[in-house]
Amino acid sequence: MQRLRRLCYGLRMALATVILAAGRGTRMKSATTKVLHCVAGRPMVEYPVDLAERLRSQKIVCVLGHQSEAVRAAVEARFGVDRVTVAQQREQRGTGHAVAQARGALRGFSGHVLILYGDVPLLTEASVRRLVQAARRRTLALMTARVDNPHGYGRIVRDERGRPVRVVEERDATDRERALCEINAGIYCVDAAFLFAALRRLRPTNAQGELYLTDIVARAAATSEVATVEASPEELLGVNDRVELARADERMRRRINEEWMRSGVTFDRPESTLVEPGVILGADTVIGPLCELRGSTRIGVGVRIEVGCVLQDAVVAEGAHLKPYTVLHESEVGARATLGPFAHLRPGSVIGAEAKIGNFVETKKARLGRGAKASHLSYLGDAEIGADVNIGCGTITCNYDGHNKFKTVIGEGAFIGSDTQLVAPVTIGAKAIVGAGTTVVDDVPAGALALSRAPQIAVLGYAERKRRERIKGRRR
Ligand code: UD1
Ligand code: CA
Repeated sequence: MQRLRRLCYGLRMALATVILAAGRGTRMKSATTKVLHCVAGRPMVEYPVDLAERLRSQKIVCVLGHQSEAVRAAVEARFGVDRVTVAQQREQRGTGHAVAQARGALRGFSGHVLILYGDVPLLTEASVRRLVQAARRRTLALMTARVDNPHGYGRIVRDERGRPVRVVEERDATDRERALCEINAGIYCVDAAFLFAALRRLRPTNAQGELYLTDIVARAAATSEVATVEASPEELLGVNDRVELARADERMRRRINEEWMRSGVTFDRPESTLVEPGVILGADTVIGPLCELRGSTRIGVGVRIEVGCVLQDAVVAEGAHLKPYTVLHESEVGARATLGPFAHLRPGSVIGAEAKIGNFVETKKARLGRGAKASHLSYLGDAEIGADVNIGCGTITCNYDGHNKFKTVIGEGAFIGSDTQLVAPVTIGAKAIVGAGTTVVDDVPAGALALSRAPQIAVLGYAERKRRERIKGRRR
């Protein structure tokens, strides 16, 4: 049992993953290192780590150089502190040198090593699984693609029987080799013992004076048959500048959204909407244009999310309706509740089933019971609001005295009139009524009426008298 779990899931072989991400990414022209730039809301480096996780790699080693501490922090925040080992590559002396930096971290490991990159986010699990499968009982398998324009890539050189014999870099290639359109993706699955022995024997005898990882292919081919696995050029897209970043982002969003469409979610203009990996959507949910669903957001069945909604770590139950430009952050929304337009739920808001939060209502650490309503222009913070309560327009919980926060409790079925200030800590009993314009400073018993308005007076003839006084004043 224990042993089985340690083997690569479904493939029954021991696997470790090395992720190369030491490059600075000069062409990004950024103070932030390349692999921390985001694709579909996630730092690029998370994608290969996630793949390694899904393949149940025993060990995951990231080879880092530039801003390695920031990259380490990002990876640890997502995957936990012990999951990934960082190997430093201080000087970039080529891809072979980069992989060699993982030797220490993989001491004692026997099995195959999968080599991935921090800047190739679109690579699919299916392709990598095929590669790992092909490497079973082989020394080495590598991923290739057929492209129209192979410029800049290493080419796969095959013998007269079609077997791959080596990889040649563009700059070291003959004209005939340069005409080959089968390229090296740079992704390999290779026996660990062979790999580290071969890396020791690399020499920088090439046009770039680097230690080429590609040279291990010829070495493997000399003694055993090397397998190739073809992938689509699209998933091998590397990100070197911000144009390629935008392209990768667009493709990743499309891939995620199409997957959700196939499982029963409707998108109105899917290209404009971001659904981060890790978000879960229920069937028959309809998502309007320009929405962002981020983090661990979970959406139930048959939810309607209109244009411009932004949800971060939100939970929305079935049949809820988010009208345009509703913003939810770490909040929960009950079944068939209605929110917005322009509602803002800040962390700790829990909205009951069939409740209603209308336009320009802000909530923070507020619980609203089933069927409660706050339809317009309110701030509800640190509040416990019972079922069927009606919060009138312009109600404000005064929860903060400049130093501390205090709680407002409103019992079931209470009616809070418009323009009420509830000065916390304060409790309104069940079915109590607060008259419009009241400043509530004391608890209100259940069923009582609270009113703090000054009595209204009417001064008859006042307007006419004022007018006459003004005219007289001008004549003087
Ligand atoms: C490499 C392959 C080439 C392949 C191409 C696919 C070699 C020699 N060539 O070429 O056959 O077609 O990838 O994209 O391997 N890196 C480090 N440390 C280093 C050097 C590189 O971490 O010292 C990382 C870079 O951050 C980058 C990746 O490895 O993400 C690829 O390195 P790069 O120098 O761009 O290799 P290519 O010339 O593209
Ligand atoms: Ca490259």
